[in-house]
This record gives sequence, structure tokens and C-alpha cells, in this order.
Amino acid sequence: MARIIVHTRGSPLVHRTPKGDTILICMCGLSRNYPFCDGSHVKIDGEEGGAIYVYGSSGKRVGRVERVETEKGEADLEDLATV
Ligand code: FES
Repeated sequence: MARIIVHTRGSPLVHRTPKGDTILICMCGLSRNYPFCDGSHVKIDGEEGGAIYVYGSSGKRVGRVERVETEKGEADLEDLATV
């Protein structure tokens, strides 16, 4: 079984702890050390707006989704990116 989880950010969330440490939280979904950023977000370079890209378990981009059908019919990919 596979699933699509849409991540729209391409950079980490910077969290500062009360002790002053900086923690980078992965927001792109590609980190091999999730939930922490490992720099894998650089792989999204070249992605175009309005498309959903597919990455394999190795973290390599393998394709893009052209059409998504939801329970309510065909979805606009731009709308999925804002859910
Ligand atoms: S934001 Fe995901 S690896 Fe950096």
C-alpha cells in the first residue's frame, strides 16, 4: 500500500529551544532523519508549481502526478497543495 501526503514547504521550520539550541524540523517530507531536517530538501530544486512530485523510498524523485481523483471527483492539484 502506498499513499500521497502533500508537503508544500521546501525548507525546514526553525525551532529555538528555551536553552537556545536550534532544531530544524523537516517540512518537505524527504528527510531520512524525519522529523528532523537532514538537508534532503535540496532535492526539490526544479519542481514546478501546480504539480505534485513523487519520491521513492530511496528519496529519489521518480515522477509527478498529473491527476488526482478524490471522493468528490477530480481534484485541482493547486487546491491539494493548500489542504
Ligand atoms: S526540510 Fe525536509 S529535509 Fe530539510
